Amino acid sequence: MLAALCILVLLSFCPALCVFQKLYCSFSDSCDCDFRPNIRDLEWDIYKNVFGQHLVQDIVSEEVVKFLQNKNPDRPLVLSFHGSSGTGKTLVSSMLGTHLFASAMSSPYVHQFVATLHFPVPHRVQQYRRELKSWVQGNLTECAHSIFIFDEMERMPAGLVDVLEPFLGPSHVVFYTNYRKAVYVFISSTGEEVINRAALENRQSGQEREAIALADLEDAIAQAAYNNHTSGFFQSSIIQQKLITRFVPFLPLSRRHVERCVLSQLCQRGHCGRSDVVDAVGRDVAFHPVQGQYFSTTGCKAVSAKIDLFL
Ligand SMILES: *[C@@H]1O[C@H](CO)[C@@H](O)[C@H](O)[C@H]1NC(C)=O
Ligand SMILES: *[C@@H]1O[C@H](CO)[C@@H](O)[C@H](O)[C@H]1NC(C)=O
Repeated sequence: MLAALCILVLLSFCPALCVFQKLYCSFSDSCDCDFRPNIRDLEWDIYKNVFGQHLVQDIVSEEVVKFLQNKNPDRPLVLSFHGSSGTGKTLVSSMLGTHLFASAMSSPYVHQFVATLHFPVPHRVQQYRRELKSWVQGNLTECAHSIFIFDEMERMPAGLVDVLEPFLGPSHVVFYTNYRKAVYVFISSTGEEVINRAALENRQSGQEREAIALADLEDAIAQAAYNNHTSGFFQSSIIQQKLITRFVPFLPLSRRHVERCVLSQLCQRGHCGRSDVVDAVGRDVAFHPVQGQYFSTTGCKAVSAKIDLFL
């Protein structure tokens, strides 16, 4: 009785428990120890370091917060990032890993699949399907909070990701593993035409960038991904079954956004004051459409190489 009371007191006395857990976690990299979501830091990072992406900031923050605050989600969080290169898709996906796990992107529970690296030969799709399924299943058994990032979706063999369908839906508890706490992120340039057209129309009509609304975009992106045969989502049951929580459009960046990327990287290197370099890289940006010089072709990609050039 006394012993039970002692344990009860101990358990309700958090510091002691925390110390115990800290001690345990100092020699364990188990899922429970590594999974340390920091929602505030994530929101702040997305707000402060992702430039020109009001839709991304709103959707990703909102969905991740909602998902993590739900102790018993009825389905995993599935985000599909779309947009031209250099607009921040990879950046935001690594922010998720960074703020959800103590060991950040090097966490053994953050899994990245790159089409050209993991699934290079289109006609091996049946073999890839078997592999992917057993990996994801194995990874989820080790850690229900696993994050799966699928990069270069526009180069995934069609039909491959459909093997994930059973993991993405609601109410799947297979072999006692809860599959509903995982996070999936798909990254692709598919749908960039739709997104860039919306951004261009917005710009040409003289509206604020923030006036670009999500309403029409999400459906249009889903359709583009579903109908484009060079997309890994071509005729995908995942889209058909509406298993993607949100389609997230990354808008093309204008010169002023690219300059913010440059400044931020300069500051990280201790050269905050070099506005001459910001200017020089800004002048070097290639635009599309050429007429009007609205958007950078490469966004913030390769900015650091250009900084090297002008620094
Ligand atoms: C987890 O996924 C990786 C691929 O990212 C794979 O190599 C590994 O075998 C998987 N782990 C398990 C237990 O299946
Ligand atoms: C399919 O996607 C590719 C790559 O994003 C794009 O270049 C092409 O125009 C798209 N095709 C159609 C029919 O939308």
